[in-house]
Amino acid sequence: MPTPVKESRHVHLTATEAIENVELPLLLEAVYQRYGYDFRDYAPASFKRRVHRAMNEEGLDTVSALQDRILHDPACMVRFLDVLSVDFSAFFRDPAFYKTFRDQAVPLLRSAPRLRIWHAGCAAGEEVYSLAIVLHEEGLLERSRIYATDINEKLLALGREAIFPIKHMREYTTSYHQAGGRGEFSEYFTASPERVIMRDFLRQPIVWAAHNLVSDASFNEFDVVLCRNVMIYFNRRLQDRVLQLIYDSLAIGGFLGLGRGESLQCTAFEARYATLLPGQRLYRKTA
Ligand SMILES: C[S@@+](CC[C@H](N)C(=O)[O-])C[C@H]1O[C@@H](n2cnc3c(N)ncnc32)[C@H](O)[C@@H]1O
Repeated sequence: MPTPVKESRHVHLTATEAIENVELPLLLEAVYQRYGYDFRDYAPASFKRRVHRAMNEEGLDTVSALQDRILHDPACMVRFLDVLSVDFSAFFRDPAFYKTFRDQAVPLLRSAPRLRIWHAGCAAGEEVYSLAIVLHEEGLLERSRIYATDINEKLLALGREAIFPIKHMREYTTSYHQAGGRGEFSEYFTASPERVIMRDFLRQPIVWAAHNLVSDASFNEFDVVLCRNVMIYFNRRLQDRVLQLIYDSLAIGGFLGLGRGESLQCTAFEARYATLLPGQRLYRKTA
């Protein structure tokens, strides 16, 4: 058992933990200074878990050793970025959200001559294609331009390719129906034994681009912004920055979709949006 070396009120830190508390801010600073990626306002517990995973995958014992490799080897930074991106996503993830979008937002979007939609933190695009399917079934896809952005270029490339493993398609089919799907999910892709590829008409309105919510500015005015399951990895200061960026990017009357674990409650933005359905994270900008 390592000897506790420092006592901060009630918590005994092991020597390794105490050293890591020194190393982690240095790693964040090194990544920022060398590559411009600013993870300093990411939630610390989840960041630390990811750093440990990166150390494990690189076969390194200390955060300092990881920092050394990242600083001197850009390929290691690319791998680190991959580990830091929690890239889990799913088609029609949280089906009630898509049902609410279809029932509550779509009727209000029908009169718009064109629709600009931004998926911020879109991972490999499962939710981008999900919304494209809803828009298609509601007759809105042809007048939509969908911007799908993420910090991780590798994920964007996967989304652009529109190829997904076939193994979860049964589960996604259930979610599609729960989300109010009007046809068959299988109409939207062609399948081979291992994978599916989304149909061209769904891919056509989507623009894939790198965008970092920490440091990049707004780039358009949108009618819909979905930023789901991204801000849960940020601390409060960064959440406020992103909420401001989204607010500045949304037209009055535009819609904001957040993830199930995210909310506008107790933020400076609460009074500037209306909740469309109690319990659902779909909001309309009112002021
Ligand atoms: C858990 S996934 C969410 C994917 C999708 N929005 C969903 O709800 O299924 C989080 C995504 O946020 C992206 N991300 C993390 N930090 C980001 C940042 N600073 N700017 C843009 N995207 C970021 C990650 O790369 C990852 O793809």
